[in-house]
Parts: sequence; C-alpha cells; structure tokens
Amino acid sequence: THIDWDMDTAEKGGYPDFMLKEIHEQPRVIRDTLAGRLDGGSISIDELDMSSEELHLVDRVYIIACGTSYHAGLIAKNLIEAWARIPCEVEVASEFRYRDPIITPTTLVVAVSQSGETADTLAAIRDARVKGAKVFGITNVVGSPVARESDGVIYTKANKEIAVASTKSFLGQVVSLTLLALLLGQSHGTLTTRQIKLLFSELADTAEQVERILADDSAIQEAARACADATSALFIGRGMGSAISYEGALKLKEISYLHAEAYPAGEMKHGPIALIDEGFPVIAIATRGPVYDKVVSNLQESRARGAMVVAVATEGDEEIKRHADHVIYIPKVRDAFSPITASVPLQMFARCIALERGCDVDQPRNLAKSVTVE
Ligand code: G6P
Repeated sequence: THIDWDMDTAEKGGYPDFMLKEIHEQPRVIRDTLAGRLDGGSISIDELDMSSEELHLVDRVYIIACGTSYHAGLIAKNLIEAWARIPCEVEVASEFRYRDPIITPTTLVVAVSQSGETADTLAAIRDARVKGAKVFGITNVVGSPVARESDGVIYTKANKEIAVASTKSFLGQVVSLTLLALLLGQSHGTLTTRQIKLLFSELADTAEQVERILADDSAIQEAARACADATSALFIGRGMGSAISYEGALKLKEISYLHAEAYPAGEMKHGPIALIDEGFPVIAIATRGPVYDKVVSNLQESRARGAMVVAVATEGDEEIKRHADHVIYIPKVRDAFSPITASVPLQMFARCIALERGCDVDQPRNLAKSVTVE
C-alpha cells in the first residue's frame, strides 16, 4: 500500500489542525499540572521558593497578564478571594506598568504568560519588583524571561502550543492558579485539610469531565452552524460565568473575525440589550450554581427581544431548554471549577464557526503567538 507521508499531518497527530489537537490534549494538561501537588493533605508548590510563614503574610494579590492569560487571572481572583480571603486585583500588564499600583512588601504579584516573553508583562514584573513586591511567574516556557525574572515560578504543563489562539495553555494556567489559590487558603488557615483534599480531588476529576465533553461535539457544531452567519455575538454570564464569557468572546473574535463581546449578564439593561434584534446570538454560561436563576432571567429578557440563545448548561437541566434555542450540556461540577469545563465547549464553538467561515484556525490574520514589543 502507498503511504502518503506528510510532515504536517504527522505533527498534528492526525488532527486537521493544531487547535483541535491542542484542545484534545487538555485532559492530559490537567493531569500533568496536578501530578504530585497534593502531599499528604497539603498542597505543595516547592518551586515558588516561599515558606508558609512568608506566604501567610501576603495581604494583597495582583494578577497581571495579557490576552487569554488575563482571563485566567479573572477566574483566579474569584478563587483566591473565596478560599484565602485576600483581596485580589487582576490587571492587564500594559495598564499596570503605567500606573502607580499600591505595592508593599506583603503584596504578591502573579504574572501569567504562556510564552514567558510578552513585553508588557515583563515590564510589569520588573516594575513590581523594583517597588518591593514578591513576584510569582506562571508560564509554559522553561527558562523564559518571565521564569528568570520572577522570584518563583510555576510551569504550566501544556507543552508547546502552536495554534496562535491559546487553548490548552489557558487551561493549564487556570489549573495552576487554582492550585495557587488552594495554597494561599492553606497558608492563611482559611481552608481546612479536609476541604483542601476534597477540592483537590474534585479538581482532578475535571480531567475526565473534559474528556466527556470532547467525546461528543454534535450539540456544539449545531449551535455553531446556527451562529456562523451572524455579524456580531454577545457572551454573557455572572460570577465565574462572566469570566468564562470574556474568554469565549475572545476566542471567537480571534479566529473567526466575528465581532463578539462579553458582558456580565447583570449589565445587559445598561446597554448591550439594545443590540438585540431577531436572530442575534447570545451565548450564555448558564450552569447550575449560585446565580443560575439570575442568568435565566437574562435569557428570558434576551429571547423576548428575538435573541437566538445558546446556553452552556449542566447535564440533567431540562428547564434550560425552555429558555434557549441551543443547549450545550456539560458535566456537573462545583462552581469553582466551572471555568475548566465550560471553557472547552466555547473553544470548540469558536473553532467550528471559524471553519464554517473559511478561516485558518491556527494562524489568524494580524495576530502573533507572542507579542515581544509594545
Ligand atoms: C498574544 C497571543 C495570545 C496570548 C497573549 C498573551 O496576543 O496571541 O494567545 O494570550 O499574547 O501571551 P502570553 O504568552 O503572555 O500568555
């Protein structure tokens, strides 16, 4: 038989594009990122090179990053504040570096960067250190400038990411930041050993849950086809759901060039609802959680004005079908871990739309994998 050896196909591991290959690597990324991190009943991140006494003194956290990495930060803010009860701010590096942020010796700055070489993020790290903060880097590239210039580093275990739009690195960042939030909860005595063990085990379960999402993309494809001809789309959610929405909208605009924006659902009446007319796509994070009912009300309001609603919802939720044109079900997880599961269908949704529109999902126009100049 004739074997048509093609380097490109081989590198893509049989997938049609790197983006899909990398989306499918995510369960492995979750497992590798968590491997060896629970030691007895406690979280251990030795590379951070900071004693639990030092960590205990941290009284303010800044997360600085750009692009997708910034969205991982938005998710982590919720976890750090909930579990460690430490105020946490998230800021894009290009803003942080030109402000005069309040930094003291007990401020922890966490710089998140897949490439480890983003110019603004590096400048922000230098600035924060000059002002006396301790800086942790979270990066995917061993020995990168972010790793070298930070006081401690956590490596995400995504391995090389080739598609310009980040998927598996994002998940690796979210899981790494979740570990950091657990560590801070541990050092501040705000989480018990029992809670840490339970949270860690549920976190580890997300690997299998993501596998299940990846196994059947039929509902995602159907929703994507229905939205592919739109000129604009709105992503909404509340709490964790709003952070997830930002990343969902970014993925879509990056690779499909379909204008998308994200809003906390509670802000709908303050502007975005004016956009809605017949067939306007509203993509909602409507998983079961503390704000489920509120999101459902927003969907009713959107639909009353003609919106075509795509809801990312929790398996077993039959009620949501009454409020959405398309439902993408994902396994039930604790709200804290919903970004890990809910982000995956949104990555696939963006990819399907981009393909429907004839776009190159791996190399979108005008974008670079890493931005090393301002
Ligand atoms: C570029 C990439 C994005 C990435 C951002 C931040 O815009 O296209 O995918 O999120 O840079 O990159 P970093 O390497 O610092 O995470």
